[in-house]
Amino acid sequence: MIAVKNLHKTYTAGDTKVKALRGVSLDIQEGEFMSIAGPSGSGKTTLLNIVGCIDGADEGEVIIAGESVMTLDRNEQAAFRRDNLGFIFQSFNLIPVLTAFENVALSLNLIGVNDKETEERTMAILKEVGLEGMEDRRPSRLSGGQQQRVAIARALVKDPKIILADEPTANLDSHTGQEVLDLMKEMNEKHNSTFVFSTHDSMVMGFANRLVRLHDGKIQSDERR
Ligand SMILES: Nc1ncnc2c1ncn2[C@@H]1O[C@H](COP(=O)(O)OP(=O)(O)O)[C@@H](O)[C@H]1O
Ligand SMILES: [Mg+2]
Repeated sequence: MIAVKNLHKTYTAGDTKVKALRGVSLDIQEGEFMSIAGPSGSGKTTLLNIVGCIDGADEGEVIIAGESVMTLDRNEQAAFRRDNLGFIFQSFNLIPVLTAFENVALSLNLIGVNDKETEERTMAILKEVGLEGMEDRRPSRLSGGQQQRVAIARALVKDPKIILADEPTANLDSHTGQEVLDLMKEMNEKHNSTFVFSTHDSMVMGFANRLVRLHDGKIQSDERR
């Protein structure tokens, strides 16, 4: 489903160069529930951003569902992202002026789904993530865990091939974080969506079926359990 080959990425800030990725290669199978784990600064966000076509690499290749995504131009990458990928962020990134319903429905509007189908699919996925009755609330009237549930619904509603989640529980207390992980796992099993999530938290790593450890921009270990 995803092949990552020999990724290298160096950031330059003034006179200093930081090697964020130093030859990362990885194959991700359909339906995996996988964690990219490592301490702060190990390259997790850089790797997810490159796989998610948000950022480019200096060297290497990313192939998703047969498409070599780094060779696409900006517009093609944006279209690829919209059609194939779902994102979940540490800080939820919901649009504050939109309701839960509108935040989720927007993803379908953007890909041209008609209003009736948008309404049905949005209501169904919000129910699945446990937010029935809260569709009309704006993010400010939802708890952190509920906001992350909206973000999960938003990522899943398009039925994307892959969901990339950068430290999805880092802004949640551990109990709420576990609930969010349970929900992600449930969605992974039910929809057979591939989930790749990053974390520096060992409790969170424990939820993954496959654990890839990054250290200083290199893969240190890769275990399935
Ligand atoms: N935009 C940037 N400019 C310069 N250095 C960066 C930038 N983004 C990340 N880095 C550096 O690259 C390394 C990897 O960062 P990152 O991918 O964010 O790691 P993680 O997500 O594991 O904390 C770190 O040393 C970080 O300081
Ligand atoms: Mg990060």
